[in-house]
Amino acid sequence: MASPKHNMLREIFEQPEAVQQTAEAASADVSSQSFYGVSWKEAGLASLDRILIAASGTSRHAGIAGKFMIESLAGIPVEVDYASEFQLSPAVVSPKTLTIVITQSGETADTLAALRKAKKSGSKVVTISNVEQSSMMKEADFRIHTKAGPELAVPSTKAFTAQLTALFCFALFLGEIRKKVAREQAAAFRSELASLPAKLQTVLGLDAKCEALARRFRDRSGFIFAARGVHNAVAMDGALKLKEVSYLHSEAFPSGEILHGPLATIDEDIAVIAIATVDGADSDSKARFEKTLSNLKELKGRSGKIIALASEGDTRVGKLAEETLYLPKAPDLLLPILEIVPLQLFAYHIAILLGRNVDSPRSLAKAVVND
Ligand code: AGP
Repeated sequence: MASPKHNMLREIFEQPEAVQQTAEAASADVSSQSFYGVSWKEAGLASLDRILIAASGTSRHAGIAGKFMIESLAGIPVEVDYASEFQLSPAVVSPKTLTIVITQSGETADTLAALRKAKKSGSKVVTISNVEQSSMMKEADFRIHTKAGPELAVPSTKAFTAQLTALFCFALFLGEIRKKVAREQAAAFRSELASLPAKLQTVLGLDAKCEALARRFRDRSGFIFAARGVHNAVAMDGALKLKEVSYLHSEAFPSGEILHGPLATIDEDIAVIAIATVDGADSDSKARFEKTLSNLKELKGRSGKIIALASEGDTRVGKLAEETLYLPKAPDLLLPILEIVPLQLFAYHIAILLGRNVDSPRSLAKAVVND
């Protein structure tokens, strides 16, 4: 495409390289039992009993997906906290807890305070950051550098997919050293990961469709994003992206939770954006998908319109949603890297149609360095 007018759009389109470079860097040392040059045996990873993830905004959403990745692949319990809450909370952190802070900039004040609190309590800290020379990279015990390249627009896009990639690689590595993932299974996951950049190019081909949807939906008074499992992280980030660049009201809920209150707010003026993808090789994913379909039946008729993300070849979601965007197939834990892209494009186009400054939305800074 010709050089885009806005950093946000350019950065959305840079995601295939961001994911590829992050995955290549992360996979480099697996065979030697080290990850990013650190011997994780010496770091005590094999005997950890808990992981705490602290982050803010989009980086926290990556952490929510990371929790699913680590718990599924490595069987270690993970908690995810807002960095702004953790720093002043009574949360218990011990030397057997590994703390992971996730931050694009490496300078967010709340996340830096969380890192310092964790270190003071004796926990080892891993920083996942896009800025190699940042404060949080310097203060961490271990570093994972996402290779998204400089991200200039305030809405975080390519840093998010790079964070998801790094977290997936780390979770897979933990799964291998804790003997929860067999070598062949790990190789299969790595080959799926290697196929993501090409799939991301396919998803970026939905840009014109996302723009058409934005034209159709720009006048809605609000948006509800719904998903299940690891996809909740994507719904949350889709809602955040839309609100920060368009200034429209948008919220995310786990699909099943909508019935417990939020349903009352849904009328013809509200659009529902539902993530209804499925990994046909994964029984948990299939069970969640069936439940999602029954949630969509409940929502149909109440909401003005449902826009759904579905998996290529699916024939059921399209009967329940007014508009369906089809995504390439991938393992459940990797689907978020594809799913967020149309939501970023939708947010971008709505904001442009409403005349917003997408690269520098009102009242927001790229890094919140004062708390
Ligand atoms: C995301 O689009 C936001 N601009 C914001 O939520 C951001 O992710 C948050 O401030 C955290 O920043 P960091 O990743 O640089 O720590």
